Amino acid sequence: MKYEPPRLEMLLAKLAFRLCGKSVYQAFADRLPLDGGEQVLDFGCGMGTVAYYVAKKLSHGHLTCLDISERWLNACRTTLRKYRNVDYLLWESPTLAKESFDVVYCHFVLHDIPDKELARVIPVLAESLKPSGLLAFREPLTDTDKISLIKSLVEHNSLCAMDSRIIDIPMMGNALECLYSKR
Ligand SMILES: C[S@@+](CC[C@H](N)C(=O)[O-])C[C@H]1O[C@@H](n2cnc3c(N)ncnc32)[C@H](O)[C@@H]1O
Repeated sequence: MKYEPPRLEMLLAKLAFRLCGKSVYQAFADRLPLDGGEQVLDFGCGMGTVAYYVAKKLSHGHLTCLDISERWLNACRTTLRKYRNVDYLLWESPTLAKESFDVVYCHFVLHDIPDKELARVIPVLAESLKPSGLLAFREPLTDTDKISLIKSLVEHNSLCAMDSRIIDIPMMGNALECLYSKR
């Protein structure tokens, strides 16, 4: 399902990154269990709000920024232009190399994906993780049915819950943060 954001949406995202970069996006990046050498996937990277902080941590690792939108991916390239440990992937068909990532994270992405597509996407993300790899997500708690579907799909794809918490994000409301490990 192709979608390109209007300019206003991109402007608001830039503003949120300027105003809340550290408190919202860096805070999420800081909670990812990273040592610096991991292969990491940012699924639905947008303009690179979280990726900007994750790329900094991967001193001898690598970050793949993936998005379904060419416009977001270009904005992400601009945000991360100083990093050499990043590549960019336009998600045209739901496939990824199997067992290629140590950590996959999704920040405010899964709740936006229609149920049918989510049922295709989550198995692909799970398969792309190496054994014992980690899946982390942060999603708004506005649609509890969607949250239940996400958790159920994740748990049916060989991922075990390790940690979860509800946080109140300024201007964005309550969100659920979960961390899963591949069996
Ligand atoms: C609300 S934005 C969040 C962007 C970024 N993660 C952040 O927190 O700033 C959602 C992003 O997910 C992307 N997206 C939506 N559906 C997608 C899909 N099926 N596959 C990959 N990316 C998707 C959108 O293009 C958009 O960049």
